[in-house]
Amino acid sequence: MDTFSIHRMEEQDLEAIHQINALSFSSPWSREAIQAELHNEQAYYLTARADGQTVGYAGAWLVFDEVQITNIAVHPQMRGRGIAGRLLQALIEDMRERSMAVMFLEVRVSNQAAIRLYESAGFQYAGYRKGFYPDKEDAHVMSLKLPQSER
Ligand SMILES: CC(C)(COP(=O)(O)OP(=O)(O)OC[C@H]1O[C@@H](n2cnc3c(N)ncnc32)[C@H](O)[C@@H]1OP(=O)(O)O)[C@@H](O)C(=O)NCCC(=O)NCCS
Repeated sequence: MDTFSIHRMEEQDLEAIHQINALSFSSPWSREAIQAELHNEQAYYLTARADGQTVGYAGAWLVFDEVQITNIAVHPQMRGRGIAGRLLQALIEDMRERSMAVMFLEVRVSNQAAIRLYESAGFQYAGYRKGFYPDKEDAHVMSLKLPQSER
């Protein structure tokens, strides 16, 4: 099924993203923190929309030629349809076009869905952070090198 489209995040996405975060994370970002990303020059956020409704998003911070993925989440009722996979592929493509060298992220060691998502996109294990999360769960660090496309 492929009835969704990918866009750069806009003001109109914020309320839905806030709700998706509340349904997806044990310590979700505040509404203000998400809104601030719209005006953060180092931030790059994509959203997925289905029938005009924002159903998922993926975001990153760009520092020099490195990309740190901040968040990726899909509304619980819309999971398992390839939406996160498409968001991540679009983010990777955009970062490659911007000549970024490498992407990084942290993921909870228990988060099988996210780990599978990143493995499918070619991310590799690059480290381990013990007690990284507020509840002391450990994190895998995963990374993806971005070879520049041939001209
Ligand atoms: C992780 C998350 C974004 C995946 O979104 P999604 O739209 O359901 O993912 P997709 O349908 O694109 O699936 C991507 C891959 O993950 C796999 N996957 C998805 N859900 C899975 C699950 N519950 N268990 C195992 N694998 C799963 C899919 O099979 C697919 O792998 P494939 O490409 O090899 O077939 C979603 O579960 C979510 O929002 N979780 C809560 C927020 C979160 O944990 N974010 C990650 C923070 S690091």
